[in-house]
Amino acid sequence: MPLEIVRNDITKMAVDAIVNAANESLLGGGGVDGAIHYAAGPKLLAECKTLGGCKTGKAKITGGYDLPAKYVIHTVGPIYEDGKHGEKALLESCYRESLALAKAHNCETVAFPLISSGVYGYPKDQALKVAIDVISDFLLENEMKVYIVIFDKASYKIGEKLFSDIAEYIDDHYVDERAVYRRESVSIRRSFRSVRAPQVPDLCEYKAMMPTEDLDAKLKQIDESFSQMLLRKIDEKGMTDAECYKKANIDRKLFSKIRSDVHYKPSKPTAIAFAISLELSLNETEDMLKKAGFALSHSNKFDIIIEYFISNGNYNIFEINEALFAFDQSLLGA
Ligand code: APR
Repeated sequence: MPLEIVRNDITKMAVDAIVNAANESLLGGGGVDGAIHYAAGPKLLAECKTLGGCKTGKAKITGGYDLPAKYVIHTVGPIYEDGKHGEKALLESCYRESLALAKAHNCETVAFPLISSGVYGYPKDQALKVAIDVISDFLLENEMKVYIVIFDKASYKIGEKLFSDIAEYIDDHYVDERAVYRRESVSIRRSFRSVRAPQVPDLCEYKAMMPTEDLDAKLKQIDESFSQMLLRKIDEKGMTDAECYKKANIDRKLFSKIRSDVHYKPSKPTAIAFAISLELSLNETEDMLKKAGFALSHSNKFDIIIEYFISNGNYNIFEINEALFAFDQSLLGA
């Protein structure tokens, strides 16, 4: 999963580079800046003193010293006033400049805090959206593993409206499977006698009902594997393999495993990630899941949130992952 949202203390992340939400002096401060300097030790400050500060929206790199990370990329986020003073562009630039520096130093893994969302007052849901938009654009063109590190749940907010819409959708659709099972088993027992075996047309009647080329295609699709359906759908959608797996937040290695093994069985989040990337309807998603041995269930919050986004035609996997994270569910992708 090239972009992952995790709950952690960024100073503990054993990645190639962690990003520091610094101020223009680069001489340390509170929040994540203070935590990073504290964990890195005095040598970090000594190197920062040689950098001559950093402009808002820009980024500079130093060693990681006592941190598990090899580098620290110091970037200065905008102080949020009212959103009408170029704050968004400056915040986007922080992520872009930091990613460019990480790439220039051959970093394969980078961890970001939510820049400007603390002392600098950037609304947390908007700060998260900027981070996800800029990082996911970068990942469409570059191979890197990026973490957005959430230090405490309070500092993590998706849009209030989105959150309440999803919460309402879960309430409307969540079903306690045990209750359903009890009710259904009673009704089946009661009505069993009156059930007539459904008249299923045999194959020759079925053939007569459908034009042969559709029928052959349909019969072929019935027993195609997950991998075969995935590749067929990529072709039907006119996508390249890379477009599909990047949009699914899946790394190249996993995709080539699936492509080369016709019987490969992916995990449920991986199968759903591809359905989202291909922008499949709910029925097509169910069909693709079935080929991997899964089904969407109304007794599972993760599934209901996926159903919410597909029914609303929102196939942005990073927004879906934001929502899944907000509801403490596992994320989509490998
Ligand atoms: N790990 C990960 N994230 C953290 C950590 C940590 N150890 N500590 C704080 N955070 C989170 C906060 O919860 C917030 O979501 O980092 C985000 C950014 O908050 P701040 O550190 O306050 O940074 P910012 O809002 O960009 O303000 C920068 O604060 O510390 C000073 O010197 C810094 O003047 C600069 C200003």
